[in-house]
Amino acid sequence: MVNCRHFRWPSAFLLASFLLLVFAAGDNSTYTPRDYILLNCGSSGRASDSDGRVWNGDTGSKFAPSLDSAGLAASQQASSVAEVPYMTARIFTSPYTYSFPVGPGRKFIRLYFYPSNYSTHAQSDAFFDVTCNNHTLLSNFSAFLTASSLNYDHLTREYSVNTSTGGGLDLTFTPSSSHPNAFAFINGVEIVSMPDVFTLGSPSLFTGGPPVSFPIEPDMAMETMYRLNVGGQFLSPTQDSGLFRTWSDDSEYIFGAAFGVSYSNDPNVTVAYTAGVPSYTAPLDVYSTARSMGPDTNVNLNYNLTWIVTVDAGFFYLVRFHFCEIQYPMTKVNQRVFHIYVNNQTVQENADVIAWSHGIGKPVFEDYVVFTTGSGQMDMWVALHPDIEQKPEYYDAILNGLEIFKIQNSNASLAGLNPPPRPQPPVDASRIYGRSTSHKSRAAVVAGGVAGGLVFLIAGFCLVGFCRRHKAKGKDAGSSDGPSGWLPLSLYGNSHSATSAKTNATGSYASSLPANLCRHFSFAEIKTATKGFDESLLLGVGGFGKVYRGEIDGGTNVAIKRGNPMSGQGVHEFQTEIEMLSKLRHRHLVSLIGYCEENCEMILVYDYMAHGTLREHLYKTQKPPLTWRQRLEICIGAARGLHYLHTGAKYIIIHRDVKTTNILLDEKWVAKVSDFGLSKTGPMLDHTHVSTVVKGSIGYLDPEYYRRQQLTDKSDVYSFGVVLFEVLCARPALNPALPKEQVSLAEWAVHCQKKGMLDDIIDPYLKGKIAPQCLKKFADTAEKCVADNSTERPSMGDVLWNLEFALQLQESAEESGSISTGVSDETPMMIGNKIVDDPSMEPSITTTSITSISIGGQSLASVDSDSLTPSAVFSQIMNPKGR
Ligand SMILES: *[C@@H]1O[C@H](CO)[C@@H](O)[C@H](O)[C@H]1NC(C)=O
Ligand SMILES: *[C@@H]1O[C@H](CO)[C@@H](O)[C@H](O)[C@H]1NC(C)=O
Ligand SMILES: *[C@@H]1O[C@H](CO)[C@@H](O)[C@H](O)[C@H]1NC(C)=O
Ligand SMILES: *[C@@H]1O[C@H](CO)[C@@H](O)[C@H](O)[C@H]1NC(C)=O
Ligand SMILES: *[C@@H]1O[C@H](CO)[C@@H](O)[C@H](O)[C@H]1NC(C)=O
Ligand SMILES: *[C@@H]1O[C@H](CO)[C@@H](O)[C@H](O)[C@H]1NC(C)=O
Ligand SMILES: *[C@@H]1O[C@H](CO)[C@@H](O)[C@H](O)[C@H]1NC(C)=O
Ligand SMILES: *[C@@H]1O[C@H](CO)[C@@H](O)[C@H](O)[C@H]1NC(C)=O
Ligand SMILES: *[C@@H]1O[C@H](CO)[C@@H](O)[C@H](O)[C@H]1NC(C)=O
Repeated sequence: MVNCRHFRWPSAFLLASFLLLVFAAGDNSTYTPRDYILLNCGSSGRASDSDGRVWNGDTGSKFAPSLDSAGLAASQQASSVAEVPYMTARIFTSPYTYSFPVGPGRKFIRLYFYPSNYSTHAQSDAFFDVTCNNHTLLSNFSAFLTASSLNYDHLTREYSVNTSTGGGLDLTFTPSSSHPNAFAFINGVEIVSMPDVFTLGSPSLFTGGPPVSFPIEPDMAMETMYRLNVGGQFLSPTQDSGLFRTWSDDSEYIFGAAFGVSYSNDPNVTVAYTAGVPSYTAPLDVYSTARSMGPDTNVNLNYNLTWIVTVDAGFFYLVRFHFCEIQYPMTKVNQRVFHIYVNNQTVQENADVIAWSHGIGKPVFEDYVVFTTGSGQMDMWVALHPDIEQKPEYYDAILNGLEIFKIQNSNASLAGLNPPPRPQPPVDASRIYGRSTSHKSRAAVVAGGVAGGLVFLIAGFCLVGFCRRHKAKGKDAGSSDGPSGWLPLSLYGNSHSATSAKTNATGSYASSLPANLCRHFSFAEIKTATKGFDESLLLGVGGFGKVYRGEIDGGTNVAIKRGNPMSGQGVHEFQTEIEMLSKLRHRHLVSLIGYCEENCEMILVYDYMAHGTLREHLYKTQKPPLTWRQRLEICIGAARGLHYLHTGAKYIIIHRDVKTTNILLDEKWVAKVSDFGLSKTGPMLDHTHVSTVVKGSIGYLDPEYYRRQQLTDKSDVYSFGVVLFEVLCARPALNPALPKEQVSLAEWAVHCQKKGMLDDIIDPYLKGKIAPQCLKKFADTAEKCVADNSTERPSMGDVLWNLEFALQLQESAEESGSISTGVSDETPMMIGNKIVDDPSMEPSITTTSITSISIGGQSLASVDSDSLTPSAVFSQIMNPKGR
């Protein structure tokens, strides 16, 4: 006799969410949770979060009858942190239990934490245990230490507990007894009943010996560590198939530069659930996108498509792989067959998706259990490699989704240790193929005076981060501090639902823009933030209008771009940028916080980028010069951002205005590509380019684009080549003051390169500091990028690979002492890069990099059916057949 009244209140908004869901996910989204509770701890009344889900305060709630007054508010609001449920907390200085009279069966329990000072309670004093019925979910947990190690603003933890054994679900918070002043806190609790997703499969345990069956018992508590939409996009709880799960983009976790290719289903392939794979297994969006290794057999044979995630050692993990073939010609058994490795052991040979699923468009998943020995945190490796023994038609592998669940230990506990404090100075243990770290030599660069040349700043000066998960990505992986470089996102510590959906007092505006995607600011708020558009806060002026530095939420710095109503670029660019930014997210792309569209104003609010533009660190500046390694790392970051635009999103996005003022640097020197105001998504399938009015910046313009007014992704590659030369030579792309043959940097640099005179034009500061092999690799890459004919230019994926390799060459030269680091202070430049130290590894790097790797090329299917020159054809709408 579970009190029906309790469950009446969610039904109204449930209905609303489900309408949305059905709309988004298409069909078969039939799972309706019996219990669905969203408790906004520390507050009273109802409030919506950024996904439009309605939360109820716990003050006076039936789940917490003794909590009859309001909780505490967080002392500050980080810009990525949404009002609901994060800005209020319930604080406990002695044990407290919430009792939820839910029905029997498994429940998802999601705990939301925003580490912050709450009144007199300092965030560093919060150490506590959380138990659910007889399961320990967290022990001696410090949200503060965990979030700062991950570089996140807030955290979500997801558990699954079967409540059948007792009446209801008790959630107990207990301050740690070993820490003085310890207290417990919680910002939000979500409880959703769920079908039995864990017993759907029949996993075996792999320990090195023969696999043994390892069924997931109904009473085992589980913790979700990662849930990735492989080859696809972030999916918010309302985009899930009924269980309100969050699915993250997998690209953060991919090892090295070998990203394979991501793609979505052929338009004539319908992805539909089957009897063995009900809709609640995963949303169709997960099965409709995939990542494969790429079209080149030789490349595929020489690498493993690898994801690395950080987990707590000492636990069993259920690793679930979601598969679905979604492109022709993959319809038959033994066409694509591969190995699956977890932690370097083979968990599956002869993996053949069609053999499992019996057809294209049919989802299937496979479960494996592995044990991790030791204690503390460790990396888990998940890798795929072609299984050539089966002599398949294609040497390739595919993955659509990946979930990793921790299984409770014999003490019914899921609790891991707090992460160690972040290393100081940061050491990047994760670097192998030169995964970029941008600030190892941070100390070497001290912010100097104000840049000259403000004139050059165009609109979009100081941006960063992302609408939905900005900061999360911006801050974490890009800056890879120590092992946390591999840690990012997912439930293990996410700050995804980052938007602050402020319930605004000035809410009566009518907007055509996606209010749910970004925060809306009133004009009054913008005026306050910029002190009435005070000219002393001006950061730059560009075609679009002016960019101001501003302050919101009592101390968060932002960049505010105010559209100039007179500029012809107006409304269209404004809307393009909001649309683009709110859909895309990557740690090397800028992050939109919100916008204001009142009084005919068009205003965009971005994170503030402490180090400004790349250009202002190159020339016409009083700032100290960047070291060569820093420049390489910045180029690699920007290349990653562009590579993501070209291949990572659902639609191909061509930036169209790549230049050094559109590459911004955050406080950790992480490069972010900015200014999508001119971006264009690709044409429909039957076109090979976007025909468009020529836009972009002189000096960076692809000559072919200019001649034929046809835009391909290779236009961005050209512009990026100019950026590379600019970084090397520290001079503008175009300098009319110079003799005619030297005016265009691209032409002049290529000329010098061909004549073997490149040394004469490189930045004098860099002379003698660049390893010769590195310089050669870099200059060759830049030269190929600016090839006159776009088909001769490499893809951004190739460029990225080559730059990573150039960085490796530089690092090994610096370590061997054959070249000076260019760092004038005491900062040790590099600490033990194992790969480079280990001579046996060097050949493998060399092999892989030199054989024209075409990571990021096209998928098998497109090579098959289209043209052999991947880039010539740039059908952007991600050409459902390519990539
Ligand atoms: C899903 O929907 C499709 C068509 O809408 C239908 O053919 C299929 O049987 C449904 N699958 C399930 C599992 O309900
Ligand atoms: C939180 O409180 C502690 C001690 O009271 C103080 O040192 C710290 O600066 C505060 N942090 C913030 C972000 O306010
Ligand atoms: C918790 O464990 C105790 C004894 O170990 C048992 O009596 C009790 O029923 C359990 N409670 C639940 C909710 O399982
Ligand atoms: C919960 O546990 C009970 C008994 O322990 C079991 O019958 C039931 O199937 C379980 N439910 C789920 C969803 O695992
Ligand atoms: C599906 O479309 C692709 C091109 O998009 C084509 O190559 C393939 O033959 C089509 N298959 C069927 C069965 O229609
Ligand atoms: C897997 O192998 C790689 C190198 O081959 C090694 O660095 C890594 O530590 C191994 N991972 C595990 C979990 O053993
Ligand atoms: C792929 O991973 C497996 C397991 O760690 C390893 O044995 C194999 O050498 C790797 N292959 C390549 C090409 O890296
Ligand atoms: C279970 O708890 C006992 C006592 O607290 C401890 O000694 C033991 O190591 C724990 N076992 C595991 C697997 O954590
Ligand atoms: C709790 O965690 C802190 C930080 O990791 C650690 O220093 C302390 O020893 C832990 N306390 C206990 C009782 O495990």
